[in-house]
Amino acid sequence: MKVGILTGGGDCPGLNAVIRAVVKRGAQFGFKFVGIRDGWSGLLDMSFSPVTKDMISGLLPKGGTILGTSRTNPFKKPEDAERLLSNIKKLALDCIVCIGGDDTLGVAQKLFEQGMATVGIPKTIDNDLSATDFTFGFDTAVSIVTEALDRLHTTTEAHHRVMVVEVMGRHAGWIAVYGGLAGGADMILIPEEPFDVEEVCRVIRKRKDDGKNFSIIVAAEGAYPKEAGGVITKERTLDAFGHARLGGVGEFLAQEVEKRTGIETRYVVLGHLQRGGSPTAYDRILATRYGVRAAELINEKKFGRMVALQGNKIVDVSLKEATGKAKTVDMEIYRIASVFFG
Ligand code: F6P
Repeated sequence: MKVGILTGGGDCPGLNAVIRAVVKRGAQFGFKFVGIRDGWSGLLDMSFSPVTKDMISGLLPKGGTILGTSRTNPFKKPEDAERLLSNIKKLALDCIVCIGGDDTLGVAQKLFEQGMATVGIPKTIDNDLSATDFTFGFDTAVSIVTEALDRLHTTTEAHHRVMVVEVMGRHAGWIAVYGGLAGGADMILIPEEPFDVEEVCRVIRKRKDDGKNFSIIVAAEGAYPKEAGGVITKERTLDAFGHARLGGVGEFLAQEVEKRTGIETRYVVLGHLQRGGSPTAYDRILATRYGVRAAELINEKKFGRMVALQGNKIVDVSLKEATGKAKTVDMEIYRIASVFFG
């Protein structure tokens, strides 16, 4: 069995741990692996190299991805789609393991519909993929946000300031809610619940009246004020999958809060720090469980499937069920976090 393996979309901690697990388990079935470089672009440009058992040692704690990644959408132009299919044939791949979020796995589903054997593994720090309780990378991102909030607390309190902390989370505020909950945020703003700037200011003023002369506000990058009616973006250009580059809500809110409350306000954008470095123990274990099961699915010839975590069990679900719809924040968790607002 000749198996292609690729990582697509934004990187996240645990990608190398998954590659290690797929290759280790796959080698036990006698699979030969072809590492496709930089996501789908490697199949368009025929950029690949073998991935052998010797290459996976030491990968478990390593951040990034040894295969490289990109946000290439091979179905954007009909000529690319044709090239993709013909290159897959040229390479004589029996199956492709696609490690990615909604966009990468959406392509895997399209390929499956066109007769190619694909298996998906859910990755994204945003944790917004349907049909799985958690994606690997999320726990690491939450730990990074938590540590940042601990550090920001001491400086914010010392200066009696307001600190707005912008975290990743395009369509869903999972990182904001979990990170904010673990780091003791005084308010958490998420894309699922457009916020009212005046209400944010009211909470900050009330904290001051109660003797708390500092506040920490966590805002997901996709959170937006009700009056704006949509997300705040850095630039107008869209990526190959039609997503705008988000960013700016932290800066916007910090300016508004300072103007309306008169309290000195700063903002921090945690950005790609949340995606870099070594995965947590939880993500290493989740990534390993996903990788092992993905290789087993190939051996069982169960294609068009994605490995998923449901409860504490690794299951497999159809790629179709897993893609096309973002998994938004569980409002029960947001309710618990909101007990500590103000
Ligand atoms: O992978 C998803 C994500 O983490 C989003 O939260 C964020 O908007 C995006 O990646 C930013 O990615 P990049 O700047 O690498 O394109």
